Amino acid sequence: MQRIFSGIQPSGVPTLGNYLGAIRNWVALQQGHECLYCLVDLHAITTWQDPAQLREQTRTQAAILLAAGIDAETHILFNQSAVSAHARLAWIFNCVARIGWLNRMTQFKDKAGKDREAVSAGLYVYPNLMAADILAYHATRVPVGDDQRQHLELANDIAQKFNHDYGVTFFPVIEALVPPDAARVMSLRDGTKKMSKSDPSDQSRINLTDDADAIAQKIRRARTDAEPLPSEPAGLAERPEARNLVTILAALSDMTIEDTLAVHGGQGFGTFKEALAERIVATVGPIAGEARRLMDDPAHLDAVLRRGAARANAIAEPIVREAERIVGF
Ligand code: ADP
Ligand code: NA
Repeated sequence: MQRIFSGIQPSGVPTLGNYLGAIRNWVALQQGHECLYCLVDLHAITTWQDPAQLREQTRTQAAILLAAGIDAETHILFNQSAVSAHARLAWIFNCVARIGWLNRMTQFKDKAGKDREAVSAGLYVYPNLMAADILAYHATRVPVGDDQRQHLELANDIAQKFNHDYGVTFFPVIEALVPPDAARVMSLRDGTKKMSKSDPSDQSRINLTDDADAIAQKIRRARTDAEPLPSEPAGLAERPEARNLVTILAALSDMTIEDTLAVHGGQGFGTFKEALAERIVATVGPIAGEARRLMDDPAHLDAVLRRGAARANAIAEPIVREAERIVGF
């Protein structure tokens, strides 16, 4: 059985974008794989996090993942800082990866923006830690959104250079699992920006903890144009906000954009948004409800994460110990 590793940053409440781009896929992959799902708090602090909030959001994320269908009995759910193998292997990889490789990472350029000298060194070496996350488990399949492809190529470069430099065949080749219908969900306020849990505007996203009223209100206020919906995909070409709302409905209904427009083409946004809000509530409502129930018992969530960390550690420790031995420690 192939081993899967994937992570999500506990830097905010997961959104509908995280659900359609990642979490939904994580749940499906539990069938037929051995899965490790990690709340990557080491990655989260590459940009400032309020300590109390980070602790709270880690629990909230655990609750949401369990509520969405992650099975922490059969598979492993844990937080990254609880397994020291990640940080130890990341240091070795800091010494294997070349600065020139990191300089090519487009996500760093995007996140650092103009102030490249002022961001943390952690943000710069983030891809080395991501490589360590995966390779500490000899995981071979990594479900990610399209934005993470470049980081996985770098992880393979690191693995191959380690093997070559030390004359071993120790780290395996990693395969990115990018969903074919890679739903890339955009902001509700700006159809050209991706929906993100770290966007300062709460109106820009559906949180997986939102109740039915909040969802209906955010969808009602979502930015759109004045035209009714087209009856064919070509009609969405210059309409990013309309395209985004149709994409969300199609993804949630497991339908193509074409079939969705065959049903809703010709409708004004008043009518369409009601159908969309109803469909979102049908998916998010039960997740949010169950997550709230789980969050009432933080001790239980902490116990789930502790148990996950112990099981993750049992896999990673011998692998990383062997990497350290290969290096000469
Ligand atoms: P965020 O950017 O919201 O902080 P993360 O960096 O924690 O999210 O990413 C977690 C996973 O969710 C990744 O696999 C990423 O590709 C996916 N993802 C994040 N935002 C979106 C989006 N708007 N649409 C689709 N997938 C997304
Ligand atoms: Na991201």
